[in-house]
Amino acid sequence: MKIVTCVAPVNIAVIKYWGKSNDELIIPLNDSISASLSTDVVRADPTVQGSFLLSLFLDVRQNDDNGEPVVERERVLAQRGETGHELATARAVLKKRERADPSLPEASWNVVICSENNFPTAAGLASSAAGFACLVYALAVLYGVEGEISDVARQGSGSACRSMYGGWVRWHCQGDSIARQLKGPAHWPEMRVLILVVNDATKKHSSTLGMKRSVDTSSLIGYRAEKVVPDRIRDMEGAIFAKDFETFAELTMRDSNQFHAICLDTYPPCVYMNDTSHAIVDLVHRYNEFRGRNAACYTFDAGPNACVFLLEQEVSSFAGAVDYAFPRVGDGADYYKGLGFERVPIEGGLAETLTPAEQGKLKYMIHTEVGEGPRVLENSDDHLLTVDGLPKALGLVPA
Ligand code: DP6
Repeated sequence: MKIVTCVAPVNIAVIKYWGKSNDELIIPLNDSISASLSTDVVRADPTVQGSFLLSLFLDVRQNDDNGEPVVERERVLAQRGETGHELATARAVLKKRERADPSLPEASWNVVICSENNFPTAAGLASSAAGFACLVYALAVLYGVEGEISDVARQGSGSACRSMYGGWVRWHCQGDSIARQLKGPAHWPEMRVLILVVNDATKKHSSTLGMKRSVDTSSLIGYRAEKVVPDRIRDMEGAIFAKDFETFAELTMRDSNQFHAICLDTYPPCVYMNDTSHAIVDLVHRYNEFRGRNAACYTFDAGPNACVFLLEQEVSSFAGAVDYAFPRVGDGADYYKGLGFERVPIEGGLAETLTPAEQGKLKYMIHTEVGEGPRVLENSDDHLLTVDGLPKALGLVPA
C-alpha cells in the first residue's frame, strides 16, 4: 500500500502552440514557449491554488477472489467518471517502465486515482495541461520510471508536456517533440503574472477541435508556423535569457494577437476573446504608452481571460489602473487572490486617457509568479485519499 500525492503547475504560453502536424502523436506545427506558474500560491492563499493536485493510491490487497478490484473501489472510480484517457496514460507510463524491467509486476497493481483542480475553474486556464502533467508525474513516481516523460504527458493534452518542468519551458516540434526547460524559476525572480478573470457566460470551445479546424481551413496558420514562429522563438529565448522585458513584452503581445488572428481566419471562426478582453488589450497599450516603454504585456489562450506579465515593481500601479478601468462590484474581499501587493490609486495622467467600463466586467484577479515543476507532497494532510484509499472529499469514514 502506498499513497503518492503530487502537484503540477499550470503553464501559460508566451509563444503559442496552435495546430498539430500529427494528430495521433500530438506533434505541434510549431515550437512554443511557456512559463510554469507557482504552485506555492497554495500556501500563501487557500482560496487560490495555481496548481493541480493528485493522489494515487496503490493497493495490492484489494482484489476479490477472481483477482478483480473490490466493489468499493469500482464505485469510487465510477463516481469520478474515470476516463479512457487516464487508463491510456497509465499504460503509456508502464510501457516506459517495461523497457527497464520486462517482468513488470506493476502491471497487475490496482491504482486509485483521485484528483483535484485547485485552479479556480472559472479561470479556465490550462487546467487540463496541469492535470495530465500531474497524472503522468505521479504515475512515474509510483512505477519508478526515470528519464524523459514529457512525451507521455503530451498524449493527454499537448501543452501538458510544458507543465512537466518549472520556470521557462520550450516544447520542440522537431525530433521526438519533447519539452525542455530553458531556465528555472529563479532565473527571472522579478517576473509576476496577473490573471484577470473575465465575467463571461459563453460556452467554452475545445482547443483540440478549434486548432484542428484552423489547420483544415486557415490559410495563415502555415505561414505562421513556417515563417513567423522560428524567428520569434529565437528572439523570445534571447529576451528571456537576457531578462529583456521590453522585447519579451512585445513578442508576447504580438504572438497572442497572431494566434487570435488565426482563430478568426478559421472557418467558421473560433472566437475566444470578448469585449472585455479587447478592453484589457487597450488598457495595456495605453498603460505602456503612458510609461513610455513596455511595462506590462497580455496574452490570451482559448478563452476571454487575460494573463498579464509584468515586473514586481509594476504590480501595484498596474493593478490600480485595472481597478479604475474595470470597477469591481462590492468591497473586493474575494476579489484579489494570490500574492499580496500594496493597493494604490491610478495615476491622474493615466486616468485621463481611460474610460472606465461598466461595473463587474472582471470576476477577480490572481497575482502569482513563475514557479517550480511537478513535485511529490510528503505531508499526509495534502493527500486527497484516506489511508484506506478513499477520497477524503467523499467524507466516507472507513469501517
Ligand atoms: C491556446 O494543449 O489544450 O492554450 O493538444 O489538443 O489538448 P490539445 O490542446 P491544448 O492547447 C493549448 C492551446 C493554447 C496555447 C498554448 O498553451 O500553447
